[in-house]
Amino acid sequence: MNNVAVIGSQWGDEGKGKIVDWLSSEADIVVRFQGGHNAGHTLVINGITYKLRLLPSGIVRQNKISIIGNGVVIDPWALLEEIDEIKSKGVKVDTDNLIISESANLILPFHKEMDEIREDAAGKAKIGTTRRGIGPAYEDKVGRRSIRVMDLISESNLDHRLETVLLHHNAIRKGLGKNIFRKDKLKKELLKIAPEILKFSQPVWKKINEFKKLNKKILFEGAQGILLDVDHGTYPFVTSSNTVASAAATGSGCGPNSINYVLGITKAYTTRVGEGPFPTELKDEIGDKLGTRGKEFGTVTSRKRRCGWFDGVLVRQTIKISGIDGIALTKLDVLDELDEIKMCVAYEIDGKKMDYLPAAFEDQLKVKPIYKKFKGWKSETKGIKKFDDLPKNAKIYINELENFIETRISSISTSPERNDTILIEDPFSD
Ligand code: IMP
Repeated sequence: MNNVAVIGSQWGDEGKGKIVDWLSSEADIVVRFQGGHNAGHTLVINGITYKLRLLPSGIVRQNKISIIGNGVVIDPWALLEEIDEIKSKGVKVDTDNLIISESANLILPFHKEMDEIREDAAGKAKIGTTRRGIGPAYEDKVGRRSIRVMDLISESNLDHRLETVLLHHNAIRKGLGKNIFRKDKLKKELLKIAPEILKFSQPVWKKINEFKKLNKKILFEGAQGILLDVDHGTYPFVTSSNTVASAAATGSGCGPNSINYVLGITKAYTTRVGEGPFPTELKDEIGDKLGTRGKEFGTVTSRKRRCGWFDGVLVRQTIKISGIDGIALTKLDVLDELDEIKMCVAYEIDGKKMDYLPAAFEDQLKVKPIYKKFKGWKSETKGIKKFDDLPKNAKIYINELENFIETRISSISTSPERNDTILIEDPFSD
């Protein structure tokens, strides 16, 4: 198994950082392929905490090549700031270990403003975005008016591209009573940082194919989770990219057969940040307990995450949608103190039993979860490294979860520490 894709199987924040960090120690190349600086991956290595938003997790390890693929949207200032921040912690970032796709699309200040203007104007219909300009930037990409990394190459080209994109944005801004966005100041600022960005820029599809020929191990690092996928998630309360595993191929320029193993990161309960349906949400003491024990606050926006029981119906669905081969179960220890644990095993909508989440938003709001109850194990699992050492009731819960989602569990994480993991199967080994 040379190439592994890691993706979130719920609404993001499944604890990908720790798993990606562990896998990136085995990989030669780490590739981000979608999303932008709405993501937040926290790594703790030798007591130092690294918070990454755009840079692939491989960046903090020596002798790895990190790639930002064409599917990522890049705020160039946020990227340069992150590079400076990580360098100040002693990490090397240069053209030997960082490659940025020349065709990645840029997030510019008017995208961030548009994200904010729209969220503020949406009232109850707001999505609860990270307000980083992600959605507006992807809209410009598919609208074929975006500015890409390669457009920074010349003033005349940039001038022409800015003219096109601002024609569109200024029409909307005018309609919303906002001021006109002038291109000249932005053009100057972009030209100033252009060399800093362009020096990393390469045809990523070509590099990845070269690495494949050399038999290098590639880790594709997903951001967010499948339920936030623009096609398969709880639309419209989603992000604006495809977060499923196949996006690794389009977002970096290699075929789907380049991914040999898809690892889905799955939390032992469920969380969500932002608005939108959440069938197993707990608006009670238990929800608060999960939030406190699990430290459920957003890495990027510090927002409190909504918490609820594990939704087997949803995870079984996302596993099928994304072709997940195995899951890494995270944050099991957060459930340690509970007397009783519930797992959603079916839905009821208007008195009818359903075994999947329907696509219509109105139906999603009507969903009533049907639970299977489990006795809590009421003892500490933190730091356990062998499945057999887990408490009996924890094993019952995990076995039932595995059977229900119809996919094997390849590892179980029992604390944020890198070594506190029960490893059942290594995705990189055959
Ligand atoms: P956007 O990606 O900023 O447009 O936000 C759209 C939705 O995705 C909102 O509900 C965000 O809270 C959510 N979201 C975006 N990035 C992440 C993430 O990395 N983790 C969890 N939720 C996210």
